[in-house]
Amino acid sequence: MNTDIPFQVVHVTGARPNFPKAAPVVRALDGCGVRQRLVHTGQHYDERMSDVFFRQLGLPEPDENLAVGSGSHASQTGEIMVGLERLFGASRPGLVVVYGDVNSTLAATLVATKLGIPVAHVEAGLRSFNRSMPEEINRLVTDRLAELLFATSPDALVHLGNEGIAAEKVHFVGNPMIDTLLANLHLFDASAIGRQLTLPQRYAVATLHRPANVDDPADAAELVKVMHGVADQIQLVVPLHPRGRETLANAGFFRHPGIRVIDPLGYIEFLSLVRGARAVITDSGGVQEETTVLGVPCLTLRSETERPVTISHGTNRLVTREDLVESVVRLLSTERPTAGWPVPPLWDGHAGERIAEVIARFIGAHAEGGASAGHPSAS
Ligand code: UD1
Ligand code: UDP
Repeated sequence: MNTDIPFQVVHVTGARPNFPKAAPVVRALDGCGVRQRLVHTGQHYDERMSDVFFRQLGLPEPDENLAVGSGSHASQTGEIMVGLERLFGASRPGLVVVYGDVNSTLAATLVATKLGIPVAHVEAGLRSFNRSMPEEINRLVTDRLAELLFATSPDALVHLGNEGIAAEKVHFVGNPMIDTLLANLHLFDASAIGRQLTLPQRYAVATLHRPANVDDPADAAELVKVMHGVADQIQLVVPLHPRGRETLANAGFFRHPGIRVIDPLGYIEFLSLVRGARAVITDSGGVQEETTVLGVPCLTLRSETERPVTISHGTNRLVTREDLVESVVRLLSTERPTAGWPVPPLWDGHAGERIAEVIARFIGAHAEGGASAGHPSAS
């Protein structure tokens, strides 16, 4: 990476959804000759939850890995904060870029802000309005403190405006997660993954990891009953997040011949699987967006979504445990669209470049003061 410019941008990543969001931003900033460092907090650490994304998405090796691992919210967030405070103290960034809504995002924002280092938030302004979701707390705090806020959808602009965030800090740039999807689209080979997993022509994919669905054994048991009902209708492939594995296994999830539980897949394999699916059932944020662009019907097992644009401009629908089976039956009785579905505005593969442009302008305005620029407002 270019070292001519002393101003240093530090990206903080840590969990699976961070990596496809960061990749296009890092690449575009590299193209602008910006000096960057990539920190991995170690929030996710399994090969299949972390390393595979660095390989497949062309992300540079992290310059630092804090290796914090799993823990309660307080201990995980606190450990990341302590590690980042040490790092930022040793080499002070000019700007810290954070992604999405995970604990690593919140921890980096708190540490940077308290050290007077400006924060840029990629995927700002999404709101579920459900504060029982840890992600909602992380989003609210991060957006309150960030100096640059990069929004992926028009609703996010409204939320940030309603919360009194100054409009000049907010930039509607599109969706870097979708940059990554479009850049790799040619590699998503549904037939190859179908052969590899010996799947029938017609199958559905499920991903489940939200605490509200998988943490509590009673909820998990309810969910398992319903998923067995779905598997009576269509072969179900489930690349299972480690979070719910034990609880779902104990609730008998694996005991249905129509359910195929597998380990989390690499990015290319996962999107290949999704591309060929008749339907996706999920509680993931990213998967709601990816199915929207791939035109794959998506049933989101949640009471609300912070990504309503995937419903208004996409293939997504909210479902409850009570109506999931019926929704699947109805969906299977219709044709899957093959072309012509709408896509949310600016989900065009160029969000990373737009973000890099804004950051480059920001650096131009603040590089003079360099690391001690404090809290400049966005240009
Ligand atoms: C985190 C994010 C969530 C995001 C999800 C994406 C927070 C609060 N939550 O949830 O928003 O949707 O990542 O995947 O940041 N584990 C492993 N191996 C790993 C990582 C985790 O086995 O590499 C297991 C551990 O048992 C751990 C559990 O998964 O306790 C949960 O991990 P954690 O990072 O705390 O939260 P996620 O549920 O992954
Ligand atoms: N993903 C993957 N393999 C899997 C499941 C998911 O590569 O087995 C990718 C997919 O691109 C998804 C992203 O990881 O959008 C983040 O997913 P996750 O559901 O963990 O996080 P969320 O978006 O809910 O925060």
